[in-house]
Amino acid sequence: MTTKPAISSRWNSRFSFILAATAAAVGLGNIWKFPYIMGENGGGAFIVVYLICIFTLGVPVLMGELLIGRRGRNSPGYAARNLAAESRRHPAWQLTGWVTMFTGFMILTFYVVVASWAFSYVVKSAQGQFHQADSEAITQIFRGMAGSASEMLLFTALLVIATAVVVGKGFKHGLERTVRWAMPVMLVLLVGLAFYSALVGDFASAVNFMFKPDFSELTMSTVLIALGHAFFTLSLASGVMMMYGAYLPTNTSIVGTSIWIAIADTIVALIAGLMIFPLVFGYGLVPGEGPGLIFQTLPLAFASMPFGVFIGTVFFVMLLLAAFTSAISMVESIAAFTVERFAVSRWTAAISTCVVLFALSMLTIFSFSGAGWTQVDITFLGKHMTNLFEVIDHMTSNILLPIGGLIIALFTGWAIRSKFMAAELQAAGWVFKLWQFAVRYIAPIAITLVFLQLTGVLS
Ligand code: TRP
Repeated sequence: MTTKPAISSRWNSRFSFILAATAAAVGLGNIWKFPYIMGENGGGAFIVVYLICIFTLGVPVLMGELLIGRRGRNSPGYAARNLAAESRRHPAWQLTGWVTMFTGFMILTFYVVVASWAFSYVVKSAQGQFHQADSEAITQIFRGMAGSASEMLLFTALLVIATAVVVGKGFKHGLERTVRWAMPVMLVLLVGLAFYSALVGDFASAVNFMFKPDFSELTMSTVLIALGHAFFTLSLASGVMMMYGAYLPTNTSIVGTSIWIAIADTIVALIAGLMIFPLVFGYGLVPGEGPGLIFQTLPLAFASMPFGVFIGTVFFVMLLLAAFTSAISMVESIAAFTVERFAVSRWTAAISTCVVLFALSMLTIFSFSGAGWTQVDITFLGKHMTNLFEVIDHMTSNILLPIGGLIIALFTGWAIRSKFMAAELQAAGWVFKLWQFAVRYIAPIAITLVFLQLTGVLS
């Protein structure tokens, strides 16, 4: 087993790292989830709370993860083990790496299925299936797709194979190179779509909805949702950012890059909102429709707008690219671990990771198709779940992500010796103090409160 630095690859440049980390962070969370939870939670007021969560909790935990990765110079589990040993702490602290890698991988098992919805929608909208369709017809298309195990197995398989190919090619020729074209293309498409949407939609209503906060709509549960989403959207507590930290050159500023990643991720989410809501309002649709916002509501706008077939197709291509780069980042982390642990080649590691991923994605695929073996009847910590997808989603998003965030904060704030973290951060004294205050107090207290509320202890 590895105790010495096992990761020798480094990012090509600071820009290359920011691009890749942003590509990992930007995904379905920004374009699918952020707009719909904002829609459900009153728009502007939600954005304010979300921004506070990103910068007081998200950025410090992101910095913590990059610090662990860079000082540990291994995949997350071994990196955490090395750092625990260096500070003469109990070896159990290595769980920081293992738990978060497990969480990220479980997220990925349903993430690839939702990404394959986007994939299938690229084909459907290019075929003109949404053209002139009414709400009834679109609902039928959506249900037919998500409920068809064979279709979902096909699209998920294609996506997982593409991921294996990229990761198999290795860090420089696979991940780094793919991100360098996929991310700019995705951004150009998104911005283009936003301009077009401002042209044909109701931009003023969208701006009003997003930037005129009405704090009377704010509830405790809004705050919890914003906090959970801050972790999700930055790919925190998923073993991704720790892995990316391991590839970080020693002299790159962790403070500066973390802030950039958070800003870039937030800007993409805001542009996605500014692209989607003008269409929603302009075409008389409802912003608070929930998870169906992108797959059921938005196609209604594509159905009747000028050049709707083309615009709809471009939109789903953009969504697919965003999701794809996030999937790559997670598989990269597990594959790097597999190489370290089992001393196999990159290709073997990437392919075996993806085989396991595909097998586990079936839990979600068959949940949506209604297969008997996926149906459950469990109530856990105040939440009733009816199929395995709901179990995985609830377990990861609401339980494992906050627990992972808490462990990372405690590990970097208390367990690892201050002098090591300060040396690794290479920032002014007051910056270090501020960061340490955030991971020692703000993050653990906020996460614990959220958790207690969620599990019903506080309500
Ligand atoms: N950050 C991703 C997004 O916004 C979501 C995400 C978080 C994720 N953790 C992950 C995706 C782990 C894959 C694996 O879309």
